[in-house]
Amino acid sequence: MSGPLLEVRDLVVEYATAGGRFRAVDGVGFSVGRAGSLAIVGESGCGKSTIARALVRLLTPTSGEVLLDGQDLARMPERRLRPIRSRIQMVFQDPYGSLDPRMPAVDTVGEPLKLRGVRSRAEREREAARLLDRVGLPASTIRRRPAEFSGGQRQRIGIARALAGRPEVLVCDEATSALDVSVQAQVLALLNELRAEGGLTYVFISHNLGVVSEVSDEVLVMRAGRTVEHGPTGTVLAAPREPYTRALRAAALDPTTMRGRKPRDVLAAAKGATS
Ligand SMILES: Nc1ncnc2c1ncn2[C@@H]1O[C@H](COP(=O)(O)OP(=O)(O)O)[C@@H](O)[C@H]1O
Ligand SMILES: [Mg+2]
Repeated sequence: MSGPLLEVRDLVVEYATAGGRFRAVDGVGFSVGRAGSLAIVGESGCGKSTIARALVRLLTPTSGEVLLDGQDLARMPERRLRPIRSRIQMVFQDPYGSLDPRMPAVDTVGEPLKLRGVRSRAEREREAARLLDRVGLPASTIRRRPAEFSGGQRQRIGIARALAGRPEVLVCDEATSALDVSVQAQVLALLNELRAEGGLTYVFISHNLGVVSEVSDEVLVMRAGRTVEHGPTGTVLAAPREPYTRALRAAALDPTTMRGRKPRDVLAAAKGATS
């Protein structure tokens, strides 16, 4: 089908709270073409994770559409959704919380292969080992449990697990935010490589405009559930129209977050390095 691979129209998500309904996302829309990459940026609490959860249907939007290849997932019943779920996968922020502490890496990555119908354990292990190798984890480590890996390695396991479902869209929600700057840059470089190789499509979510600008064609800036700016990354970064976006840009280049280095330079320095 032609047209964007992922299109979100007028998305609204409300949470039921003690004080009534709280509108966390209020009429957000965007589209991403195949092998494209969109960044969603904004400060903590603006609704980014809520959008991510709506995209992968961890929650059901109040209204609006989430079109994957033209099919609306927004209120699709679970039975019809199940075979589609693998096509849009999420990489989470917390590489500790999102991995089962008792499960060896090779099994964590093998789980989604079961859902894909790979019945033979040996075959699952082979494929899981291949995916772990692809994200830079040596074969000698694949039977280790999460606690035996560094934060950066754990995040690589999370990425390998997401890839095991053979997704078309990867939603990365603060996927590198828990990592220190150089490890963060290595993981971003890996995501960029995967996109170039496999034609993966990304929705990349971060509170740090500097980080996502390196991996996205387009940026959508959010504030309090709404879009305040949306355009090509270069344009938004070079000439932010909104004072809010300028503030985010300044924060991204703040010495405490980037130590004054341009994200581009951090990425370049990390290429070829291992974590
Ligand atoms: N389950 C929930 N119930 C009620 N309010 C929520 C829930 N989850 C998130 N929120 C609120 O919705 C807003 C957006 O949250 P979130 O999407 O997590 O923002 P972000 O990821 O940008 O930090 C915040 O004000 C948050 O407190
Ligand atoms: Mg969040």
